[in-house]
Amino acid sequence: MSLEGTIIKEGSTRLLVPPLISERGPGRVEGKVFFNRQMAFNRDVAVVMFRSVIQPRKCLDAMAATGARGVRICTEAPGEYRFLINDREPLAGEYIRENVRLNSIGNAEVGTADLRCLLTREVFDYIDLDPFGTPIPFLPAALQGMTRKGVLAVTATDTASLCGTHPGKCRRRYLANSQRSPFMHESGLRILIGTIVRMAAQEDRGISPLLCYYADHYFRLFLRVREGAAAADVALAQMGMMAYDRATGERRVGEGSMGPMWLGPLLDHGALAEAAAPEGLACPDRVERYLELWREELDVPFYYETDELAAMLGLSPPGRAELLRALGDKGRVSRTTFSLTGFRTDRPLEEVLEAFRSACQ
Ligand SMILES: C[S@@+](CC[C@H](N)C(=O)[O-])C[C@H]1O[C@@H](n2cnc3c(N)ncnc32)[C@H](O)[C@@H]1O
Repeated sequence: MSLEGTIIKEGSTRLLVPPLISERGPGRVEGKVFFNRQMAFNRDVAVVMFRSVIQPRKCLDAMAATGARGVRICTEAPGEYRFLINDREPLAGEYIRENVRLNSIGNAEVGTADLRCLLTREVFDYIDLDPFGTPIPFLPAALQGMTRKGVLAVTATDTASLCGTHPGKCRRRYLANSQRSPFMHESGLRILIGTIVRMAAQEDRGISPLLCYYADHYFRLFLRVREGAAAADVALAQMGMMAYDRATGERRVGEGSMGPMWLGPLLDHGALAEAAAPEGLACPDRVERYLELWREELDVPFYYETDELAAMLGLSPPGRAELLRALGDKGRVSRTTFSLTGFRTDRPLEEVLEAFRSACQ
């Protein structure tokens, strides 16, 4: 069969993509095979993780569409692993086959199974889920299909329900309360991680984040999965609720009605210490910038927004450098990948407000 489309280059990989593709946002499903150009950054980060952080042996790109992610990893992060690049849509299977051929990949197979059937027959130590919207329907199968120690990677684009725009949907899907707030992308991400922690615990498995982040219009998670009741208990101990008071800006962790959610670290600083951006990525500057911020970012929930504090205090936002300096005089402070104008600090709210006022003078 001759396939329609164009050959593009993403990173150092050649990809045949269908004639109708999405350029930005969650993307529209235009035909039977989906490709979103904006997800190049998401795929770049997967390449970095394979090159520097994770060394799986048997990998599954479970919802691959054109195969862009699996094919890029095999091409740009070569290793001793086998990759099954799968999509249940038969036409997608044709694109994947062509993309494997175009890049002369020798360690990949192509599948066209429903991942929920596939994962009752085979286990993998890296599974990547990249659905349209919520990953919830696919998580039980993915957890069942993991080896005793593995990495589960998940993309979720249903940020509106997780971030409080549709709290009812969040309660039904994630069994958690969400709320709109200046840091809603962080609370949404933590609710998503928390849901997976609770699902895994039901199977005596523990989850710990290797790297979890928000970018553009989606959440992306790389989670280490460990077998055993003790690992499950360790993960559950890092779950909890939080409260946000819009009038005072106060964030109270461990009480309140938002959640349950993951309150532990969002990334493993030790694992990411050596992560480096190789030559030839699709968005090298952005990857470098994020790697620098992830290494710097404090493990303190929840970040503050400069505009939020300025509005509360009736002040104009101070210069960024002055604010970070004033906060740094009081305690630890870092930037955050969640927002260009956000920051994290280990100081209590009164000291944050005091530093804010002094930076405004
Ligand atoms: C958002 S697209 C994946 C995009 C792709 N990972 C990329 O980087 O370009 C979601 C894909 O999941 C596939 N899919 C949906 N349900 C599935 C299932 N149960 N098993 C396998 N594939 C499925 C769809 O056919 C679709 O191609």
